Amino acid sequence: MEEPTLVIIKPDGLQKSLTGNVLTRLSETRLVLIGAKIKAVPRALAEEHYIHMKDKPFFEEIVKYLMGDYHTKRVMAIVYYGEDAIKKIRKICGATNPEEAEPGTIRGSFGRITTKGVYENVIHASGNTGDAEREIKLWFEPEEIVFDQLYPTKQTTVSHKKKIWA
Ligand code: PPS
Repeated sequence: MEEPTLVIIKPDGLQKSLTGNVLTRLSETRLVLIGAKIKAVPRALAEEHYIHMKDKPFFEEIVKYLMGDYHTKRVMAIVYYGEDAIKKIRKICGATNPEEAEPGTIRGSFGRITTKGVYENVIHASGNTGDAEREIKLWFEPEEIVFDQLYPTKQTTVSHKKKIWA
């Protein structure tokens, strides 16, 4: 099945200059890039991203990690599209726990577990189609995705101040 998936190269990946390396490995999937951006992560976005982990003891730590409190305050968010995209990307990422990830995978090569027991695993990848839809809609506006009608959209009129180039 052709499907989209969200990838986030987390702040440790950017701080350690792993972005090129990670993208090269992900490109082995031959999937199509349909969205990408560098983004600062406000607390509300990090909390919403990990909303399903709200009751875990390490929730606050993973929120701070994603916000960049321990590294640089930016992530790279990417949307790939294609046949079995979720499975193909997660295979290259390796297991969520960097100590269990195969050595050749991204997390096996570059991830670590902090002394607090939190995984610093360099990359996030959507786990299933439902998560992918929720996460892509959370991280990207429709016009930031170069794909015709990835998900249904609707027109709305907004009136607010906007920063433009001076
Ligand atoms: S997964 O791999 O996305 O299916 O994992 P999920 O269970 O949905 O989310 C777990 C996220 O929490 C991060 N995290 C930890 N999980 C379990 N145990 C510990 N100690 C832990 N520390 C951090 C884990 O990295 C998952 O986030 P992502 O961004 O997916 O890596």
